Amino acid sequence: MVPGSLVLLGGSPGIGKSTLTNMVLGHLQQSGHRTLYVSGEESAEQVRLRAERLGDSSPAHEVNPALQVPVLAETDLEAILDTLAAEAPQACVIDSVQTLRAAELSGAPGSVGQVREAAARIMALAKAQGIAVILVGHVTKDGALAGPRVLEHLVDCVLQFEGERERPYRELRALKNRFGSTNEAGLFEMRQRGLVEVLDASARFVAEATRAPGSVVLAAMEGSRPLLVEVQALVAPSELEQPRRVVSGIDRNRLALVLAILGRHGGVGTGGSDVFVNVVGGVRVDEPGCDLAVALAVASASRGVALSGTPRACFGELGLTGELRWVGHPERRLAEAAKHGCGAVIAPLDSGRDACEVATLRQALGAALPAPARRPAQAAA
Ligand SMILES: Nc1ncnc2c1ncn2[C@@H]1O[C@H](COP(=O)(O)OP(=O)(O)OP(=O)(O)O)[C@@H](O)[C@H]1O
Ligand SMILES: [Mg+2]
Repeated sequence: MVPGSLVLLGGSPGIGKSTLTNMVLGHLQQSGHRTLYVSGEESAEQVRLRAERLGDSSPAHEVNPALQVPVLAETDLEAILDTLAAEAPQACVIDSVQTLRAAELSGAPGSVGQVREAAARIMALAKAQGIAVILVGHVTKDGALAGPRVLEHLVDCVLQFEGERERPYRELRALKNRFGSTNEAGLFEMRQRGLVEVLDASARFVAEATRAPGSVVLAAMEGSRPLLVEVQALVAPSELEQPRRVVSGIDRNRLALVLAILGRHGGVGTGGSDVFVNVVGGVRVDEPGCDLAVALAVASASRGVALSGTPRACFGELGLTGELRWVGHPERRLAEAAKHGCGAVIAPLDSGRDACEVATLRQALGAALPAPARRPAQAAA
């Protein structure tokens, strides 16, 4: 956190934004920094209750760090600015920017005018006093930052906190970062006592992989870090004129592209079927290296046979002519796969000596799927 900077943290309702920011301030306070948590949504009592739950893990003789953070339950912008100026914290969280109200403006809290005014005035104060500020923002149902979208240009960093509400995994990623790469991501697990960093996500995802038809392990890159995730597909006869294409964790257009390439260059037609693809654990993979995993999962699901040598790992981008293209950091992906017991990773040419290198989608299918049983007549022919 850079003094004088503004970070916008977005996330859907209930995903854990307050939990995350509370814990961040708790740790900063514990390491000797002055902090302030401004809550416009919850009463000081509510914030204290959460802090008590978050601190349950600290040993009895230690003070609970989350409880040491000063809390201000306030929505009036003027009052908040006065407190900030008087207390001069080094780090401050405003939860959330949509609840702030500048008395001199007529719009309701959360309106574009109010949000912009609040952010601009907080920024001026933050820059003048060197306060590192995190603004919490709400996100609409389709994932865009609501209201504070107008803030994206103003702030130094935009962070997105995401995950499936039903699953414990949460991911923190940067959409904009003036101080570093936007490729880094943090993976956390939501527990009773708050968020815990998932240190070895690959081991978990590989252990959980089903190894059934339609399942494949993708050796992905999360920023500069390799991560093994399970990609699952289901292909079922459709009753709809326009069969369903449902994705979670990958881009929908990417699936359409992979299905077209599979049909044209892999001999796996899915025209009359519903296709579902899911990256297990609520993780999102946003890189071209996922193409091959999607293709293999769909092919395996479509034929109803598990990939040979499961858990089978792969990575690679598919070209429109059915070729498999090189993607970044093959050595790190291969090392991660080897570390977790996934041998013979199917990968593009030039990936590494230990990989099962193939040049085309057709070769990848040949390497990963047992040849379909031939009917006797064909065999005779
Ligand atoms: N006792 C509990 N045990 C485990 N998890 C809990 C408990 N209480 C709350 N949670 C988790 O914390 C989540 C709420 O966290 P938090 O209040 O930080 O979310 P938020 O993103 O700030 O929500 P909002 O949009 O309402 O401000 C719940 O959805 C739930 O998953
Ligand atoms: Mg909250």
